[in-house]
Amino acid sequence: MWNVLALQAGNRVPREFRQGGLLQMKAGRKGTLRMKRLLLTGASGFLGYNIAQLAREDWEVHGVVLSHPVAIPGVRIVRADLAFRGELGRLFREIRPHAVIHTAAMPNANICQAHPDETSLINTRVPVEIAALCGDLGIDCVFTSTDLVFDGRNAPYGEDAPTSPVSVYGEQKVRAEEGMLECCPSALVCRMPLMFGDRGPASASFLQPMFEAVREGREIKLFVDEFRTPASGEDAARGILLALSSGGRGILHLGGPERISRYDFGLLLMEVFGVTGARLRACRQSDVPMAAPRPSDVSLDSSRAFRLGYRPDKIRDALERLARRAAPFAKSPGSARNV
Ligand SMILES: NC(=O)c1ccc[n+]([C@@H]2O[C@H](COP(=O)([O-])OP(=O)(O)OC[C@H]3O[C@@H](n4cnc5c(N)ncnc54)[C@H](OP(=O)(O)O)[C@@H]3O)[C@@H](O)[C@H]2O)c1
Repeated sequence: MWNVLALQAGNRVPREFRQGGLLQMKAGRKGTLRMKRLLLTGASGFLGYNIAQLAREDWEVHGVVLSHPVAIPGVRIVRADLAFRGELGRLFREIRPHAVIHTAAMPNANICQAHPDETSLINTRVPVEIAALCGDLGIDCVFTSTDLVFDGRNAPYGEDAPTSPVSVYGEQKVRAEEGMLECCPSALVCRMPLMFGDRGPASASFLQPMFEAVREGREIKLFVDEFRTPASGEDAARGILLALSSGGRGILHLGGPERISRYDFGLLLMEVFGVTGARLRACRQSDVPMAAPRPSDVSLDSSRAFRLGYRPDKIRDALERLARRAAPFAKSPGSARNV
């Protein structure tokens, strides 16, 4: 059984996605052929956990974690500090992956701003070292970057827009992207949007802190002047696997289909989950001092990925899907409407 996802989608695959493709990926638990090995970093993180759930169907997944040794059925968990010299070489020798999806990072922009040297190890040095290994060994390599590589003044941003980060985190990701593509031109850099979804065993998206604030009766300040193109973690994970199986290289934007402000997202979230009495307060970015500067509109133009077959849900649909299995948000199972 061969994975021909992009072809089945009946889409015209852009030329840059046909080069060096993985379209003949071995797949299927019942197949007689052995599944290919996928090295997935950040398996305990929000995005990595979502990817692991889907990838295990078609890959023998080796998920790397650092401080959260989560158990994921069907996934072999390996504990490693990727920033520790020699650790990547050891993992590559031990696992001999056919492909790598690198999601491990320090994605908190305020922490990166306060600790640029420490965080650049995992956000810049490690991805470049992974790409170098993949380039040398001919291994498919996917890196998860961010919409925060842009300054927010010229949205929507396509893949060819020049990068213009305003924060240390954004700079670290730009340097990682450039370093990776230099030493491994066949690497694929997926720029991810703001993502939301279920709480994993050791991770959460920005929804859970909002529900916690509601439960505790705290006010939630939300920006009316910050716009993103959010996608659910599940859809984003599906997009990454689609791009990998299609043999993509270069840069690909995996934003959601709609642009929305943080404040409007909050209103929609509470409406869909039936939460009344949430103390949402509209404010501007300048009202909330933070360590890292924030761009105002980093909406992504993801039409290249849409042509490839990437179909992230509209925000309301994705939230309704989450609300239907709302236990992860609730204090006790089934009480999502009383968060
Ligand atoms: N979440 C978003 O909305 C968003 C938006 C745009 C881009 N992104 C990008 O998407 C990727 C995933 O983000 P996320 O939200 O899933 O992050 P996350 O939930 O914070 O998870 C980070 C992961 O990195 C691992 N990690 C950190 N340092 C490590 C090290 N030295 N060695 C090994 N593993 C290490 C963590 O392991 P432990 O937990 O086991 O310590 C964890 O699994 C990142 O590249 C991020 O920049 C995220």
